[in-house]
Amino acid sequence: MDLARKAQFFTLDVITKIAFGEAFGDLERDEDMYKYLEFTDEMVEVIILSATVPLLDWLRSFDWIAKLVFPSGKEATGPGRLIAIAQELVGKRFGPKAVSRRDMLGSFIRHGLEEDELISESLLQILAGSDTTATTLRATMLFLMSHPSAYHKLQEEIDTAVREGRASRPIIKYSEAHELPYLQAVIREGIRIWPTATGLLTKVVPPEGDMVTVDGKRVFLPGGTNIGTCVWGVLRRKDVFGEDADAFRPERWLEASGDKLVYMHKTGDLAFGWGKYQCLGKNIAWMELSKAFFELLRNFDFAIMDPTKPWKSKNVGLWIISEQWVQVTDRLGA
Ligand code: HEM
Repeated sequence: MDLARKAQFFTLDVITKIAFGEAFGDLERDEDMYKYLEFTDEMVEVIILSATVPLLDWLRSFDWIAKLVFPSGKEATGPGRLIAIAQELVGKRFGPKAVSRRDMLGSFIRHGLEEDELISESLLQILAGSDTTATTLRATMLFLMSHPSAYHKLQEEIDTAVREGRASRPIIKYSEAHELPYLQAVIREGIRIWPTATGLLTKVVPPEGDMVTVDGKRVFLPGGTNIGTCVWGVLRRKDVFGEDADAFRPERWLEASGDKLVYMHKTGDLAFGWGKYQCLGKNIAWMELSKAFFELLRNFDFAIMDPTKPWKSKNVGLWIISEQWVQVTDRLGA
C-alpha cells in the first residue's frame, strides 16, 4: 500500500472527527472523499510561498487576487468543499434545534466563540493538524523500516507490553503508550530527524526593537524585522544532540539525563514552534502518533517495496510526500 496516502487519510479522519464530531471517512472508504488532498497537494506550495514572501502576502490582501487563489466555500471539492462542510456542521450547533456535543466545536461554543470564528477555527485545526502529523508518521516509519535494530527494539517493547497485559484492545490507551520509553523516544527522534514544518515561520520584532544573544554576543534587532528559524539546522545541532546528530538513533533520548536531557527536550520541542504562536495541537499529535505506531507494529510488519525509491518527497516549507509504497504482512498470519 501507499503509506503516504494512508497516513493522511488517517490524520484527516482523526482531525475531522475531533473538529466536527464526524470523520471524513477516507480511511474506511480508502478514498480522498472530498478531493481535499488533491487540492492541498497543489495549493500548499502557493500558500507557504505567500506566507513567507512579504510581497506575495501583501498581494494576497487585495480581494480580487485572494478570490482568484483561495476557495470561497462554493466549490464542490477541496478546501472549498471543506469550508461548506464546516459551515453546515457549525450551523447545526445553533438555532432552535441546536445539537450539543462534547467535541472541539462544543468546547469552543462553551468558551464563547461566535459562529464565523468557529468555522475558521475548525478549518485551521484541519489544515494545521493533518499534513504535519501525516509527515511524521511517514518519515518515522521510513526511518524505522531502514533501521532494523530500532524497528525490532520497538516491536519487542510493544510485544512485551501486550504479553504483560499493559496494552488495552483494540487500541492501546494513551496513558499506556505514554509509559513505553522506547516508543516515546522513537516519536521524539522521528520528529527531530524529519521536522514537518521547515518553513521560516517568521515573527516580527516589536517596534521598539529587541536585544538577543547570538553566539555569546548581544545583538540589537531593529523593530519590524522579520526573524525566521531554520528548524532543520537546530534539530541537527551536534552540541545539543551529539556527534551523531545526523543519524536516526532513538536511544539518545534514553541515554541522556539531567540538564542535558532537559536541553535536548526543549530544543526538540522547537519542531512545534515556541511561545504564543506554538502549535496548539501538540498533545493531540503526540496521542495520535503514540497509538498509531503501537498498533501498526503490534499488528503488522512493514518493509519498503523498492529501497532505491522509498518515496517521492519535496520540501516547500512543509513536505509534499507521495508514492511511499510498502509491503505489509499480517503478524498473526491472517
Ligand atoms: C507532528 C505534528 C505537528 C507538528 C510538528 C506541528 C507543528 C506546528 C508548528 C511548527 C506550528 C507553527 C508555530 C509557529 O508559527 O511558530 C504549528 C501551529 C499550529 N498547529 Fe501544529 N503541528 C503538528 C500537529 C498539529 C495538530 C494535530 C493540530 C490540531 C489538532 C495542530 C494545530 C495547530 C494550530 C491550531 C496551530 C496555529 C497556532 C497559532 O498560530 O495560534 N498541529 N504547528
